[in-house]
Amino acid sequence: MRVFVVGATGVLGRHTLPRLMERGHSVSAVVRRPDDVTRLRRLGVDAHRGDILDVASLREPLRDCDVALHLATAIPPRGAQMDWSRNDQIRREGTHNLLAAAQDMGVRRYVQQSITFLYGDCGELIAPEEHPLTAGRSYPSALDMEEQVRASSLEWVMLRGGSFYGPGTHREDAWRSDANQGTLALPGDGSALISLVRVEDMARAVVLASESAPAGAIYNVVDDTPVSYRELYSYVAAQMMAPEPPAGGGRVDSLGCSNAAIRRALRWEPAWPSYRSGLG
Ligand SMILES: NC(=O)c1ccc[n+]([C@@H]2O[C@H](COP(=O)([O-])OP(=O)(O)OC[C@H]3O[C@@H](n4cnc5c(N)ncnc54)[C@H](OP(=O)(O)O)[C@@H]3O)[C@@H](O)[C@H]2O)c1
Repeated sequence: MRVFVVGATGVLGRHTLPRLMERGHSVSAVVRRPDDVTRLRRLGVDAHRGDILDVASLREPLRDCDVALHLATAIPPRGAQMDWSRNDQIRREGTHNLLAAAQDMGVRRYVQQSITFLYGDCGELIAPEEHPLTAGRSYPSALDMEEQVRASSLEWVMLRGGSFYGPGTHREDAWRSDANQGTLALPGDGSALISLVRVEDMARAVVLASESAPAGAIYNVVDDTPVSYRELYSYVAAQMMAPEPPAGGGRVDSLGCSNAAIRRALRWEPAWPSYRSGLG
């Protein structure tokens, strides 16, 4: 197959491209910086300069592709004033552009990376894909993105990822550094659940979905073990010989998700079934 990727330079993209290529697929990519074009070309990718917000730049790189992957996002730097407008634009206008360009260029299949955060607070429930979605305060553009994909006549697939960790994500580095500094505080009483996925497992799911997911499929991509923040952060603190994390302020949604559907349909299974093996 020939696979088009936008988001090739991101954490997920960097793990997905080599996995596509080692399975014999050729990869076309649109990236924003000239040095990324050069680097990716040296790695065997047919890389082009472009931007998901510039629909014209997507067309030629999509020529002769069988699949288009939307792995782009623009999460703002952490801080008091986080500006999500660019990310909203990528989800709304970017998705619109890529769907339209893929359709124009005769691409058959479309894979949209999405987020499990859309389930909101699930309490103790382990959410399947049918769980009602909620925009909450932060995710209306992700809901709009999913709506656009659902309305497309392409053979679309959506993957709702859990929280990525593993190489390049820096997520566990941040936990470990906070644990060492004594600032790894639990959200609330720590009983909320988090659904993790190692980014390499996420990338394998993207490859499998590109190759063989049935049209109209939506899958959660999470490991086998939703875990409470209390258990997870205690584990990290123990690894670092740091004090037990205290209860902190604020709260987070409790987000335990099931991976039964993707296990069944695509025979995907996580190489890191829980944070224990995943954190080494
Ligand atoms: N990280 C998580 O925990 C997590 C969890 C669930 C789902 N997801 C989803 O997984 C996907 C990938 O996330 P990630 O963590 O790999 O993100 P990331 O590392 O921040 O990478 C984002 C990618 O999007 C590209 N991009 C940004 N703006 C663009 C534009 N205007 N045109 C073209 N490309 C653009 C970036 O290119 P540049 O290099 O040029 O900036 C980069 O390649 C996203 O859909 C995200 O919502 C992430």
